[in-house]
Amino acid sequence: MKTVNVGICGLGTVGGGTFNVLTRNNIEINAKAGREITISHVGARMLNPDCDTSSTQVSDDVFSVANDPKVDILVELMGGTTVAKDLVLTAIRNGKHVVTANKALIAEFGNEIFAEAVKHKVTVSYEAAVAGGIPIIRSMREGLVANRIEWLAGIINGTGNFILTEMRDKGRAFEDVLKEAQELGYAEADPTFDVEGIDAAHKLVILASIAFGMPLQYDKVFCEGISTIKPEDVAYADELGYRIKHLGIARRRETGVELRVHPTLIPTSRLIANVDGVMNAVLVKGDAVGPTLYYGAGAGSEPTASAVISDIVHVSRLINGDDLEVNYDSTVPHLGFALDHLSDFNILPIEDVETAYYLRMSALDRPGVLSKVTQILSDAGISIEALIQKEPQDGQEHVPVILLTNCAVERQIISAIQKIEALESVAGDVIRIRVESLK
Ligand code: HSE
Repeated sequence: MKTVNVGICGLGTVGGGTFNVLTRNNIEINAKAGREITISHVGARMLNPDCDTSSTQVSDDVFSVANDPKVDILVELMGGTTVAKDLVLTAIRNGKHVVTANKALIAEFGNEIFAEAVKHKVTVSYEAAVAGGIPIIRSMREGLVANRIEWLAGIINGTGNFILTEMRDKGRAFEDVLKEAQELGYAEADPTFDVEGIDAAHKLVILASIAFGMPLQYDKVFCEGISTIKPEDVAYADELGYRIKHLGIARRRETGVELRVHPTLIPTSRLIANVDGVMNAVLVKGDAVGPTLYYGAGAGSEPTASAVISDIVHVSRLINGDDLEVNYDSTVPHLGFALDHLSDFNILPIEDVETAYYLRMSALDRPGVLSKVTQILSDAGISIEALIQKEPQDGQEHVPVILLTNCAVERQIISAIQKIEALESVAGDVIRIRVESLK
């Protein structure tokens, strides 16, 4: 049977891991694929000292891989959305199957790329684009196919979770942990993608499109990062029985779909609240199966390579005989739903999202102050679940007051917060973090 020739573009953290795992486990991978898989061409501007490419053709122009007639599967591991997009479209137009770990590319240009792939009857696989080594795309598209997905929530950025964990457990400074995440190869080339939630938003939009069967709509995701989280909020959350995690949440409502990434308080008793370090976890609630949880390394060289290679083997298994034809009609649709069955759901603005809230304010330590605050919330129809008032510090007139509310619509909370901030007895801004019970 003809060998499947793989062309790898990009030999950085993920490309290097893919090259090495594919080489190291070649005999076992071939046995699983039922045919030989060979790396026949590498495109990289810089070689990776951890990879022995001495017996592989190497080009510094990645387009020579996309135009190489002997390459059957082009593996795009460069990142970015400009050259990577041109490269992927060139490969598709040349009749090559594509495997990519590029979440930004899929989230922002996936609709266009998938349409082009369907036109040329090739596949585009992207298991490594979400949650690193966790096979979440395949689980949702195939394992959960019987279900109507109701919601999903995930810790889908390893760098952000690593930072929050180190800050909480070791009291380390934000910048210091971020630097370590960069050294470990977890962070994006531009780490603001990690800390401001852009990377998680890319991944969430992919998961939500597969969950609900809708076109990718990256521009509609609400996105808030972790850079404003203060150590005292982590400590107060602990005291209340919660952990702060950076979550991506997609939920079906009667009026549309919620798509949001933000720091979130989760009860410590939930498994997902205890997912620490670079680990990721995705909780998916299907109507038939109930809640399911997927856990594993969310970033890093070989965990991500594991997902990339699963796609390479998947495509190799689809390829029939020696002419490398694919029975295209029996391949799983790119987003799990047939293209002509995607629905254009309304994506709800954040003001219409319903959730509970953690509020922290600095209030004068005087009788009657708390009752004014609680009156504002009660007038807005927002009930209080818990309230802590801390002891005054030496010489301080103001004390921290922490409130947990029940579920409310975001616009009601915003209006109540404005009234609380206008009280003379409250100093500065009210800190607000969303709370999810994930029941
Ligand atoms: N920067 C990403 C993360 C890499 O930290 O999760 C994996 O997508």
